Amino acid sequence: MTGASQGIGKAILCNLARTRHFAIGLSRRKPEDLDDSMWRGLDLAKIADVIRCTSTLESTPVRALVLCAVDYGVGQRHPAATTSAEEWQRVINTNCVGHCILVSRLLPKLVANSPGIIINLSSDVALLPGAGRSAYAASKAGLHAMLRAVAAENSADSLRVYQLVPTFQLDTEGIRRRRPADFDFSSYADPAIIAEAVNKILSAQGSLPVPGTYLLRRDGTLDPHHETTQI
Ligand SMILES: NC(=O)c1ccc[n+]([C@@H]2O[C@H](COP(=O)([O-])OP(=O)(O)OC[C@H]3O[C@@H](n4cnc5c(N)ncnc54)[C@H](OP(=O)(O)O)[C@@H]3O)[C@@H](O)[C@H]2O)c1
Repeated sequence: MTGASQGIGKAILCNLARTRHFAIGLSRRKPEDLDDSMWRGLDLAKIADVIRCTSTLESTPVRALVLCAVDYGVGQRHPAATTSAEEWQRVINTNCVGHCILVSRLLPKLVANSPGIIINLSSDVALLPGAGRSAYAASKAGLHAMLRAVAAENSADSLRVYQLVPTFQLDTEGIRRRRPADFDFSSYADPAIIAEAVNKILSAQGSLPVPGTYLLRRDGTLDPHHETTQI
């Protein structure tokens, strides 16, 4: 899984470890409390590093891929007109291009362990206008669309793609960096809610939920989101 070093990704990795799933976390920084066998270094913004990382997994069977890494962009929300070329490139490379390459290179392994599972932590901005978050929105919508295409290319017997769209905000290190110092986080939820939902899907064995996009509610309920399939 990507985004293992903090926030929702770290909560998912710790939850999986507690329930004895073997998982490997990928991120640039290694969390201090994580065993070496559970972590590999990866910078998703660098294409060569994504290719190097997937090569190190050549002899490792992969049944599921959880996509959680994110670069939210510079500072607090700001309009497209004040988004620099460097920010567009870094955010879209990390959130979209890096993940697309990772997914495409690991697809044969996932399908070999059918049904392979991909769980993407998507976002409301992949479905709705994300004013003040244009680089983040473009990157999340790009990955969301790529995964819908991958799902359409593979039968549900060989690959199951789940895209989870949280309907509430979560208190993570990345979000804290985007808010003013005196911001009140009391209405923000614990990432453990997402970790439970992801674990439930990965533990479902023979009764996996129908693949697709789900709106993830604060009580852990997954409501199917019906995407446009024809125009
Ligand atoms: N928090 C929310 O309210 C919320 C709501 C809806 C959806 N989501 C989605 O949930 C996911 C997790 O969000 P979060 O708030 O937990 O994020 P976060 O606290 O900012 O954590 C981001 C993770 O991504 C990794 N990362 C960042 N840049 C990277 C790079 N270039 N290469 C590799 N890894 C990189 C970071 O690790 P390193 O820095 O060590 O590399 C870190 O582990 C995201 O997909 C986000 O879009 C979050």
